[in-house]
Amino acid sequence: MNGITDIKGSFTLHNGVEMPYLGLGVYLSEDGQEVVNAVKWALEHGYRHIDTASIYKNEVGVGQGIKESNVSRQEIFLVSKVWNSDQGYEATIKAFNDSLDRLELDYLDLYLIHWPVNGMYKETWKALEYLYEQKLVRAIGVSNFMKHHLEDLLEDSTIVPMVNQMEFHPYLVQQDLVDFCKEKKIQYEAWSPMMQGKIFKLQEFKELAEKYNKSIAQIVLRWDLQKGVITIPKSSKKERIISNADIFNFQLNSEDMDKLSSLDRSKRFGPDPDNFDF
Ligand SMILES: NC(=O)c1ccc[n+]([C@@H]2O[C@H](COP(=O)([O-])OP(=O)(O)OC[C@H]3O[C@@H](n4cnc5c(N)ncnc54)[C@H](OP(=O)(O)O)[C@@H]3O)[C@@H](O)[C@H]2O)c1
Repeated sequence: MNGITDIKGSFTLHNGVEMPYLGLGVYLSEDGQEVVNAVKWALEHGYRHIDTASIYKNEVGVGQGIKESNVSRQEIFLVSKVWNSDQGYEATIKAFNDSLDRLELDYLDLYLIHWPVNGMYKETWKALEYLYEQKLVRAIGVSNFMKHHLEDLLEDSTIVPMVNQMEFHPYLVQQDLVDFCKEKKIQYEAWSPMMQGKIFKLQEFKELAEKYNKSIAQIVLRWDLQKGVITIPKSSKKERIISNADIFNFQLNSEDMDKLSSLDRSKRFGPDPDNFDF
């Protein structure tokens, strides 16, 4: 089954670090008991990757959930991101240390530039390179970087980003960007894989869910993994966290893979990386 048969399985980043291909997203999971529970349930049920960000304002709860779980820190792949107002060399280093303080941890597995803030992201990247060289983070990457942002960054960088986390679902494939990242060995990762919940109304998914006897969420998350894309579905509900991870015992055939990819209509549900004002 494409080798993708294990919830703890991973794709290998270009520096050799293993990144579990399924993670728990925690955007809009409230700090405190809600996010603590989500993280604990996910870890209890086999997830080994958590995706947070300083702007989600729940790093304290994420750190607490990790501590209260019975999974050791080394087994967990933890991601956070530098927010736009913290970009620039010194500010990024401070933001990184503030994230570690909130998490009450001493390293991250992956640190991302959250958005490509014009005129800032190159200095921010230099800070990420420094943090990586200091071994405070095992991998560094970007998010919401279009091809031209990546080309611009690569002109002045020493380290090629290991990951690009992008809005990605069957209505927004951006195959050119996926291919460009592959060529540069930048691992592609999907945010809003379930279109922030809007996917559940789509007829094509209802049909495939019936055909495979799986949920719509399981169909789209499996499509991500078979496309070679890391995925981080968000839920704060125990049953959904568990069922969203039940995607390692079936395989979409190539016809159905293509069918889903052909739904692409360059449709965003989130902000446009070329035109955002925050
Ligand atoms: N880098 C970026 O700029 C960026 C931007 C957005 C998101 N992200 C990351 O990507 C993660 C995922 O994206 P997202 O949170 O925007 O959207 P998503 O994962 O596509 O969708 C989450 C929504 O779907 C619901 N849901 C989850 N599983 C379900 C199921 N099995 N059946 C029905 N509904 C279900 C959730 O509600 P309940 O919680 O009530 O279950 C929530 O409302 C985020 O949490 C965050 O970590 C990154």
